[in-house]
This record gives sequence, structure tokens and C-alpha cells, in this order.
Amino acid sequence: MSALWYPYTQMQNIAPFPVVRRATGVTLQLESGATLIDAISSWWAAIHGYNHPTLNRVLTQQAEIFSHIMLGGLTHRPAIDLADKLVQITPHGLNHVFFSDSGSVAVEVALKMSFQYWINSGNYEKDKTLSLKNAYHGDTFKAMEVSDDSDFTATFSRHLKRSYVLPTPNGGFFANDETLTEDISSLESVLKENGHRIAAFILEPIVQCAGGFRIYSPQYLKAARRLCDTYNVLLIFDEVATGFGRTGKLFAAEHAGVTPDVLVLGKALTGGYMGHAATISNSMIYESFLGDDNRRAFMHGPTFMGNPLACALALKSIELFHQEDYLGKIRKIESIIIEEVASMKSVLVKEKRVLGALGAIEVFESRYLNGLQEFAIENGVWLRPIGNVAYVMPSYIITESELRKVFDVLKKWFT
Ligand SMILES: Cc1ncc(COP(=O)(O)O)c(C=O)c1O
Repeated sequence: MSALWYPYTQMQNIAPFPVVRRATGVTLQLESGATLIDAISSWWAAIHGYNHPTLNRVLTQQAEIFSHIMLGGLTHRPAIDLADKLVQITPHGLNHVFFSDSGSVAVEVALKMSFQYWINSGNYEKDKTLSLKNAYHGDTFKAMEVSDDSDFTATFSRHLKRSYVLPTPNGGFFANDETLTEDISSLESVLKENGHRIAAFILEPIVQCAGGFRIYSPQYLKAARRLCDTYNVLLIFDEVATGFGRTGKLFAAEHAGVTPDVLVLGKALTGGYMGHAATISNSMIYESFLGDDNRRAFMHGPTFMGNPLACALALKSIELFHQEDYLGKIRKIESIIIEEVASMKSVLVKEKRVLGALGAIEVFESRYLNGLQEFAIENGVWLRPIGNVAYVMPSYIITESELRKVFDVLKKWFT
């Protein structure tokens, strides 16, 4: 029995997990000698696959210069350069980058920044948030508060001060006018009635990932931007999962041509090599923190924020993304997934959803997926459904034959 305590796992009598000995490209080699095609890129972070020679080189080069330097009172080029690069590539108007070590902490930072923006602006009434049903924004306390009540948060519900929650917008990416009007008017009525209490509306743009892989319309985001402006509420986009190409655009916000007040990035930021995250704000928020009084400053500072190894990796990862035409690769992945799910017929399947390098298969009952993970392993693929959704979110370097093999296994399961 090992001392290791695993995430999201009932530890009593767990069957031994497969031990990965080495990982290269999209292939995991197990100690048992078996190999698995990783269809979910280590929780959607390893966008370049594993053991990427260029990223490996950058990591060792940076380690030989320095592996870590605190950002309090000192600074370094990798952090300065990455902050500038992120401002350059994210939607226009986001100008100030605050680093942290995980997506959950970056969400905390976004929320703290929003609350303090209002305090710094002399508004003490705005102590609530608005979020969406089925949302997942991380496992720390405030992140749980803006996430839906689910297996992730249920145990702590007594400790969570929940604010306003709206239903997930309906109708998918191409929602019709009627559906949109209904969802947008629900948003407007919450903002109209409670906007004076709401500091920020936080949502994952276009796709709610861990919360059920629900896709919704860019028109909703456009309306959210307009209504947040009208009712004086900040807009936060959590792109920890959707950022860096997952939805077919570099950032999902681009589908709507909308700039949030705060953008949160994580996961694929470092190409999935190590934990790091960024919370990027507009100048209106940043400037509210300026002044002679230290109490206006942002009192937050994770020890490893701006870690040079992470920043050097992120800079190279972004360079590779453009150099290797990842958006083109993602379009190809999308077209294969569309084709594969179209030929997938099963009475167990409720809905199939595809966008960019993301394919989700929702079944009527989660028990229909019991055993899928083990079945996939036996068939050489690594999959890990969430609730009643089996999903594929591969590295962008996956080949056509590797991707088709993933779907062969899924089809075999469903037939
Ligand atoms: C949208 C979103 N936000 C935040 C997080 C939390 O990120 P982390 O696991 O790095 O804390 C996740 C993780 O899955 C996520 O999908």
C-alpha cells in the first residue's frame, strides 16, 4: 500500500492504478509493458504531447540559469517577457498579468481582484458573484462558491456562501433566437434586480468543461458583455480549460469578439509541463489599485508566481503553437471528431457535442459509462469520463490514426 493519496478517489480498496513509466508524444508506456494513447492530454493540459524535445530543451536551459526567483522585490526576464506576450496574444484591452501556480488560485485571484476593484472604487455594496449552473472553476473555497453544487463541492456546501446562479445557456453553439432571448433575458433580470450587489459575473466562455462539456452560443457572451457594462458588473472569463486552442480559437472569447474585464489562464499555459496560471486584467481594474495608500495594493503573492521554468516553457509553448500551425491541426482534429461521432450510433447516447479539439458524448445515465475507463485501458486508450460524459480532448499533435483508434474503442464500447 503506497502513501500516496489520490484526487477525487475513494481510497478504500482501490484497484492499483496503471503506473506510467515513460510518456512520449501521445503515448503512455506503462510499467506493465502496455501502451495507451492518451485521449485527454492529462486533464487537457499537455497540448504538445509528452517529452517534447523543444520544451525539454527550454526547461533544462532555464534550469541552468535559475529555476526560481521570488517576484517580491526582484524580477526576471522570463516573467516580464511572458506577461508582455500574454498581453499581445489575448483579446485587446487586457493589459496586466498576475501569475499564480494553479487554475484554482488564478480564479481566486480574479475574484479577489474584482471585489477589491469595487472597494478601491468606494463601492462597498458589491459582495456577491454571479455564475452559471454546472460551472466548475476549481477546488479552492471561493472557486467552489462560483462552481455548481456537484460531487466536487457537495461535502462543503455548509461552508460555501453561494451567490447568484443562472442556468447554463441552452441551444448549443448555434442557439436559435428564441432560446437566446430567453437566456439573455434571465441574465438581464438578475443583473437588473441585483447588479448593485454583484461584483462580477464569472463564466467559462463557449464551453463549460469539467461541469459537463456543455457548449453555448457566442451571442450569449456578447450579451453578457453588454449587460455587465449596463449594470456595472465585472465580467470574468475562466479560460483555464478553453484557452490555447481547445475550442478552435486561441481563446474561446474570440468566438464572440468580446474582451472580459479579467481573463484566467492555466493548464495549457506551460504546454502542460508544470502548474502555472495567469489572471489578466484590464487597465480600469489595475488603475483602481494605484494610489498612495498601501491598502489599495493587491495583497496576494504565491511563492512560485512567475516561476522562471514555467514562464520559459510558456513562452516556448506559445511560439510552437503559432509556428506549428496548431489552429490548423485543431481544425483537422475537429473534422475527424465530427466524422467519428456522426457514425457512432447507440441508444445509450443522449447527445454528442464537438467543438475544436473537444468531443463529448453524453449518455442518458452515468452507469452506462461504468467500466469504460478499464475497457479503454484493455484496448490501448486512456479515457476518464466525468459523470455521464465520455470526452476526448487530445494533444494537438495526435495523428489521424491515433485519434481514429480512440473512437474505435469508444464505438466498440457503445455497441
Ligand atoms: C475552467 C477551470 N477553471 C479552473 C480549474 C482549476 O484549475 P487547477 O486544477 O489548475 O487548479 C479547472 C480545472 O479543471 C478548470 O477546468
